[in-house]
Amino acid sequence: MHLIIVESPAQMARLAADRLAAQLAHRPDSVLGLPTGDTPLALYRELVRRQRRGELDLSRATTFNLDEYLGLGPDHPTSYAHYMRRHLFAPAGMDSRRTHLPDGTAADPHAEAERYEAAIRAAGGIDLQLLGIGVNGHIGFNEPGSPLDSRTRVVELCATTRSANRRHFPCGEAPPTHAITLGIATILEARRLLLLATGSAKATALRAALQGPISAGLPASVLQRHPACVAILDAAAATALDPATRQAARLSASTLSSS
Ligand code: GLP
Repeated sequence: MHLIIVESPAQMARLAADRLAAQLAHRPDSVLGLPTGDTPLALYRELVRRQRRGELDLSRATTFNLDEYLGLGPDHPTSYAHYMRRHLFAPAGMDSRRTHLPDGTAADPHAEAERYEAAIRAAGGIDLQLLGIGVNGHIGFNEPGSPLDSRTRVVELCATTRSANRRHFPCGEAPPTHAITLGIATILEARRLLLLATGSAKATALRAALQGPISAGLPASVLQRHPACVAILDAAAATALDPATRQAARLSASTLSSS
């Protein structure tokens, strides 16, 4: 895994946007895998800015989001479909026929998960998968204990995740108990991975994910197996990594930003 430590969320957004732009320059009709959460917001703002200035062309890209809450429709303000429309798809003028999320209100969620996995395959697979990480080391909604060979499916969210995500829900409204998520094996099939993480709350999970043993107990640790995975962290998220790794990763960031 290639690790880069940046000085600010703005620098993270620029570097991540550069990688996405390079992917789209290489293949304008790329299939992109997209995350939600607070971490990618600065990146989405940067993408919208570049799209509006004509520095980036998302119009031919196809996107598949990582996950969606069960029971929340696209008009629910805390659904991931709503988040994506608000922060990226609408402001970047993306065609809704090319942007995909699991349908959280499908009558048969298990069939919906299978349909979603098949749709990714039919699109040719994901070229570049962007990822965040949960405080418990989850990727997508693959909670600790998720099988490393798992596919897109319905999952139950653990208490840590529901409590971490409660801040997005209006006072008194509890986060859903279940979600549909891309599986770990599905994520690993993406040709390239880009993990983004900010803040000290992620530091312990990141140390285990990047420097610990690969284990279903810490789903993000499986990213070590991927042949083309880049992780961009801010200094706070990197605090628990060993000092030599941190030093090398900082040099890597300064080399990149001066190039
Ligand atoms: C949710 C999403 C994950 C995301 C995580 C971290 O649980 N399902 O895909 O990576 O939150 O979110 P944040 O970036 O807000 O810390």
